[in-house]
Amino acid sequence: MNAGKEEDPNFQKILALLLKTKGFDGHQYKPNYIKRRVAVRMRAMETKTYLDYLRVLQNNRQEPALLLDRLTIHVTEFFRDPNVYQAIKQNILPGFPVNPGIKLKIWCAGCSTGEEPYSVAMILKECSFSQPGFDFEIFATDIDMASIRTAEKGEYPVEALKKLSKAQVTRWFYVEGSRARVVADLKKHVHFRAHDLLSEWVDELSGFQLIFCRNLLIYLTAPLQQKIYKNFAGALAAGGFLILGLTETLLGPSRKFYECVDVRNRIYRLLEKTENFWETNKEEKVSDG
Ligand SMILES: C[S@@+](CC[C@H](N)C(=O)[O-])C[C@H]1O[C@@H](n2cnc3c(N)ncnc32)[C@H](O)[C@@H]1O
Repeated sequence: MNAGKEEDPNFQKILALLLKTKGFDGHQYKPNYIKRRVAVRMRAMETKTYLDYLRVLQNNRQEPALLLDRLTIHVTEFFRDPNVYQAIKQNILPGFPVNPGIKLKIWCAGCSTGEEPYSVAMILKECSFSQPGFDFEIFATDIDMASIRTAEKGEYPVEALKKLSKAQVTRWFYVEGSRARVVADLKKHVHFRAHDLLSEWVDELSGFQLIFCRNLLIYLTAPLQQKIYKNFAGALAAGGFLILGLTETLLGPSRKFYECVDVRNRIYRLLEKTENFWETNKEEKVSDG
């Protein structure tokens, strides 16, 4: 099996085919991560070389979609890392001034099948009960259309609700047999959309008080992580917060845009933006370290 050889031109052809057919740019991800995921599909297709697997990709119409599915890991859950939600509820949300008529804007980037944005919506809703005039909207995006469809549907197996309190289940879900459906009063706050974080940055991605990007950047190369951290800094409102996964750490040049306010829960606050924020950083070089 030659799956381990970086120089194999057929591996590059696999990436080129995936870019052409699915718009997924594997070059932006860590090579070993991509190779491990490709190897899973190679085994499933009983192919031993990149060339054999390339032929499968070329001749089997389903295979590019199946490979893409392998490359984008969708593991998620309601209240994944409960302490993070606790910290946001206790230490972050009370700091936001309540402006009646103005909604708090939140972005969940890489939201998978929706459990994360719905969890965020639950704590914000609970916060709104004690603060009249408090309102919010959540933009939840993911590269994977199938995940977005599941998220929009908002229907989950009841076992998925294991980290919720009884009161939360009763308040936020209709439970029918083994299925649980998110209630409309929660759903209306969350807007799902397919979006590739590596694509062109659009202006509407701005003014967020909170950005969650958890358990996604870890798969990307260091220079790309830097670029995205910087884009997030541009997308955050003054004093906004970036929340990463527990195994992710904000390192490198983009660190200068943020201060870490909760190291354990990976919560970072945007430092003040200067007027020439983009100008001063335009020429910045990032290293793959
Ligand atoms: C491991 S899940 C994390 C889900 C959730 N944030 C959490 O922590 O539970 C990573 C998600 O990132 C998405 N993803 C991967 N690359 C992406 C990209 N370039 N743009 C947007 N989403 C991406 C995947 O489709 C997947 O649903």
